[in-house]
Amino acid sequence: MKKLAIVIGLFVAVTVQARERVLWDFDWQFCRGAETSAWSSVELPHDWSIERVAGTASLFATNNAQCSGCLPGGTGWYRKTFTLPASAKGQRVIVEFEGVYMDSDVWLNGQHLGNRPYGYIGFEYDLTPHVKWDAPNELLVRAKVEQPCSRWFSGAGIYRHVWLTTTAPVHLAQWGTVVTTPKIAKESAEVRVRAALLNQTDAPKSVAARISIVDPTGRELASANPKVGVEAGKLATADVTLNVTSPKLWSLKAPVLYTARIELLDGGSVIDRVETPFGIRTIEFTKDRGFFLNGEPVQIYGVCNHHDQGYLGAAAYDRAIERQLEILKTMGCNAIRTSHNPPAPKLLELCDRMGFLVMDEAFDEWKWSKTKMGYGRFFDAWSERDIRDMVRRDRNHPSVILWSIGNEISEQGSPHGGEMAKRLADFVRDEDPTRPVTSACHQVARAMKSGYAAALDVLGINYNISNYTEYKGTNALIASETSSAVSSRGEYNLVLKEGAVAIDPRLNTHCTAYDVYRPGWAVNAELQLKTLADRPWVAGEFVWTGFDYIGEPTPFPWPAVSSYFGIVDLAGFPKDRFYVYQSRWTDAPMVHLLPHWNWPQFVGKEIPVWCYSNADTVELFLNGKSLGEKTMSVGARKKYTIEEREDPKTKKKSRIDIESGWYHQEWLVPYTPGTLKAVAKRGGQVVATEEVATTGVPAKLAVKVDRHEIAADGQDLAYVTVSILDAKGRLCPEADTLIQFKVAGAGKLIAVGNGNPIDHDDFQATQRKAFHGLALGIIKAGKASGTIGVTVSANSLQPASMELKVK
Ligand code: GAL
Repeated sequence: MKKLAIVIGLFVAVTVQARERVLWDFDWQFCRGAETSAWSSVELPHDWSIERVAGTASLFATNNAQCSGCLPGGTGWYRKTFTLPASAKGQRVIVEFEGVYMDSDVWLNGQHLGNRPYGYIGFEYDLTPHVKWDAPNELLVRAKVEQPCSRWFSGAGIYRHVWLTTTAPVHLAQWGTVVTTPKIAKESAEVRVRAALLNQTDAPKSVAARISIVDPTGRELASANPKVGVEAGKLATADVTLNVTSPKLWSLKAPVLYTARIELLDGGSVIDRVETPFGIRTIEFTKDRGFFLNGEPVQIYGVCNHHDQGYLGAAAYDRAIERQLEILKTMGCNAIRTSHNPPAPKLLELCDRMGFLVMDEAFDEWKWSKTKMGYGRFFDAWSERDIRDMVRRDRNHPSVILWSIGNEISEQGSPHGGEMAKRLADFVRDEDPTRPVTSACHQVARAMKSGYAAALDVLGINYNISNYTEYKGTNALIASETSSAVSSRGEYNLVLKEGAVAIDPRLNTHCTAYDVYRPGWAVNAELQLKTLADRPWVAGEFVWTGFDYIGEPTPFPWPAVSSYFGIVDLAGFPKDRFYVYQSRWTDAPMVHLLPHWNWPQFVGKEIPVWCYSNADTVELFLNGKSLGEKTMSVGARKKYTIEEREDPKTKKKSRIDIESGWYHQEWLVPYTPGTLKAVAKRGGQVVATEEVATTGVPAKLAVKVDRHEIAADGQDLAYVTVSILDAKGRLCPEADTLIQFKVAGAGKLIAVGNGNPIDHDDFQATQRKAFHGLALGIIKAGKASGTIGVTVSANSLQPASMELKVK
């Protein structure tokens, strides 16, 4: 327990015990199945469903839930032994789980503390009544994943952080702080801080609080000292309004964060302290002009993401979440929809800090379950608690601009849909009246009729792009889910058809990386972008999805085990579609060409070469010879007719027409080996170039890391990209060589991957086949400083090595 020596004013110097919150992710034991099985040591965050069970041939099995990526669920047990010093007796000891998937039960020393079915919400238990002081205590956690419980991969276990908090018996309550900014003007902003305090003693207390606002440099700007009376065993609230002069607004470009610091004092000593970051900003959704942040129009360039971290499974490592956001930022993405559940708290902290907007979503299903063992089982008993907790947990984040009460809720068109929506929306408004409530609807006409849509402040429209015009003016609109285009990184699926080269949308369980393929309900990226560009009353979009995720492997079932929807693949490598968004959503000059230029089978035949750029014009050269300059801003509309193969389920053959061409240019280039070069110009000046060259055979490996120095905290990650190069150092686009990873020193290799949705190799291994020339290794830091040596090798290829620092 931390003792704080505190000096108040000139006089008092006392030693008191104040709040201490420690990360409790280490020194756990885990076993699968029965509690009596063999225990092994684990560190959190942890996901048992991506660990291959000893004796089984593969991580994946056809008899596991297809929607969960054919990864197993089951029951898992965690236990932790700990001792607390008798000197801490009198303090409250609280364990906080950020999320356990799912249906968890927790016991301390054999006493049942509680059950929490929803796997995506945080919860805490007060351990104090059952703690043994100066003696070993055992905390036991059981998680039950009965499949099918989700339409996507959920993961299994304690997949988010755990914290142990010790406080005085009179302390600030969990999620009890609310910071709002009721008045914002150039000269000054009003900041209202409400802090709920809990008296866990058996006598009434009068508590002095000190509430202050601190600017981003740590300078205190304003403070107040309210006194709060609180009954024994009850909550009471301190409520103050403070002024910040010349406030710096939180915006996407400058996400300025202030801090509300709340201290509780007892006889002059600080007995509790909590700091809550917040932003000063206004948000407004309009019916006719879209979304405004601080009075300025902002187009929402968003993506939907599931919570999994690719080859780490559901394990919510801070750095993994941060890396995803960094990658999305380079694409120009400015918003995240946490589909379809409350995210890890870290995601919101990062969005606050990095300047992303968030649509924070509660549920994918209500009472009418979409999967047999889904949330519907718990809806009646838990939905109020779960949705209130989501809002209470997340309402101080400036990044959060929308609360979603659900995605494609089956009841939206039912006779009770309106009433059910209003019930949940009212819980949300009760906890936070400052943000609008939405829901992602896929049957808007029915939602209008049932009263469901009337319960919302902002109408979320999934797909159905004609709805944007149909419902214009009825409500503020957001394209809550769009696109669902499908592609595999590096797979172009070029085939000979009647003597000419054609794009086959689906070949060998892969979707072409040209943006010409989508399931029946979906919309290719360019048509979606164009539709929204012409409809400024829609606040913007959330593309399905930013990253590929495990599970829901549309359009192919097994052997596919992960999605094709991602703009970025499961390993974090951008697909070509990334660049159409980048060309629309960013200003820094860029140009991107596809496909690769290794087509010996098509010599003399015309290959469709596509180019994405945000420049005015692009001129394409093959081996130095110009193939013409084209204007990027007015790309020609083109129809691609895709003959679908027979659907294995319905046996139906369908034709899909794809409209595209607004935001790419195409040259049909007779193939001859050599170098394609794109030269992009603005105002006649070259601003960006890209080259794609025919490569030789694989000759060597190269290794690159996202950060050369990581923290010695036992959780930081380094993402190592391995590329297969030819003798001249160019990426071999078809190489799928098996790569060996050797990692030694101050960290360890915890996962490998490559972005191939049909690859069934173990995530936790020391080798991985490349997919289109690339493979990924994820290294976790140990807790001691030092260096990590990384060597990658492959048969007959020149190996590569590098060193990382852990500090
Ligand atoms: C949507 C659904 C998403 C995902 C997507 C695939 O209808 O909301 O969760 O299933 O389809 O296209």
